[in-house]
Amino acid sequence: MKNEQKQQNSRRKFIQSGITLGALFPLLGKPFDALANPLREDRAEPATQSLKILILGGTTFLGPHQIAYALKRGHSISTFTRGKTKPSVQKDVFKDVEQLIGDRDNNMEALKGRKWDLVIDNSGNKLKWVKEAAELLKDNVELYMYTSSTGVYYPYLGKNIKEDTKPVLKVPEGITPVQFGEYDYGVMKANSELSVISAFGKNRSIIVRPTYMMGPGDQTDRFTYWPERLARGGEVMLPGKEDDPVQYIDVRDVAEWMIRLAEGKKAGTYNAAGPASATGMYAFVYGAHAAFNSAVEFVRIPDYKFLEAQNVLDAIPWIMPVGDNYGSARVNIEFAVANGLTFTPLADSVRDIHTWWNSDAVTEAKRAKMLSGADALMTREKTIIAEWRKKSAPNKQGQQSQQAN
Ligand SMILES: NC(=O)c1ccc[n+]([C@@H]2O[C@H](COP(=O)([O-])OP(=O)(O)OC[C@H]3O[C@@H](n4cnc5c(N)ncnc54)[C@H](OP(=O)(O)O)[C@@H]3O)[C@@H](O)[C@H]2O)c1
Repeated sequence: MKNEQKQQNSRRKFIQSGITLGALFPLLGKPFDALANPLREDRAEPATQSLKILILGGTTFLGPHQIAYALKRGHSISTFTRGKTKPSVQKDVFKDVEQLIGDRDNNMEALKGRKWDLVIDNSGNKLKWVKEAAELLKDNVELYMYTSSTGVYYPYLGKNIKEDTKPVLKVPEGITPVQFGEYDYGVMKANSELSVISAFGKNRSIIVRPTYMMGPGDQTDRFTYWPERLARGGEVMLPGKEDDPVQYIDVRDVAEWMIRLAEGKKAGTYNAAGPASATGMYAFVYGAHAAFNSAVEFVRIPDYKFLEAQNVLDAIPWIMPVGDNYGSARVNIEFAVANGLTFTPLADSVRDIHTWWNSDAVTEAKRAKMLSGADALMTREKTIIAEWRKKSAPNKQGQQSQQAN
């Protein structure tokens, strides 16, 4: 009897707390689908004003997600491309897009004499292209939004890299080929930003600097390594030290936020990185693994010298945080968050990437390259773990793979 009473009391308590929780979290009790990503559902409500948007590029990774969201918000979209790249995600939204054809190298005719509220320049990967587009559009478009990159901060030497950090504007002499690649991209992006501001003025320019973007449609196979590797389970190499900082962001968070920034006409320069709080490499990997129920045994390799000898300098989002890369994942996001940047929970992103990567949107050849390509980390992983065990065996005493150097 007493037990029954107890049970009833606790059930009542549960119902009462359910009501309180229901008031706090209005999505509780909705069908599973609606719960899959409540933030994304909320953010897709129509905007108060419909914008005419031109996207330079728009058919690869970031663009399709911007388009899907913008259409849901009631905006209209034109894209400008050569018509070569076919989208592999959000394909069905392109029937509602005006697709203008030309070439940023030598044929911008389709953009002449047209008016838009906003241009989003995703494909601005040459300074000349950005300069010419900004000059061509400045009298016919109100706002220029340029997709830049945290690459402008290379070399990443700071502990807390804010938007007012001065980017390098000229590739220095006497650098290594690796440094050249990094400088070349960062300097191009930084000068492109300036050419937008010079044509449109500060009050009509929005510069967004994303860190590594991940998500469905990613062509780079960088971050995608982790969802695929963790889903497979078994012995998983975990490079780096526990608190090595990592930053990344779901492409859809960037895409949707860019549209909202434009709606609010929020001119300015913004870093775009996640997660919401400082995260170390181990926390990232454990969090990503929460998307799956595969059994894994992590083999931690916190020895930079060993990793360097094995040519494991990065496993994005992890980049060995030394030298020019010390601050690559120490980018400050306060300004972005204060202006509406939000984050999809990591396990949701990881699950979505895994589903997309194993769907027909990705070719067998692409999958094979990551899973078994000669230089692929997945191919090399077993040997690296074996070498690590050999190296740490003499002083092992039960702590071999955990030991920092
Ligand atoms: N991925 C990341 O993690 C990351 C991080 C930071 C910043 N970013 C930046 O994010 C931006 C968005 O990248 P994204 O992956 O969505 O792809 P994107 O750079 O917008 O993709 C290329 C687009 O440009 C078009 N294009 C290529 N050559 C062209 C030409 N000569 N004339 C006209 N259009 C041309 C392509 O279509 P056609 O082939 O049909 O012409 C395609 O739509 C890029 O600027 C990148 O630097 C990316």
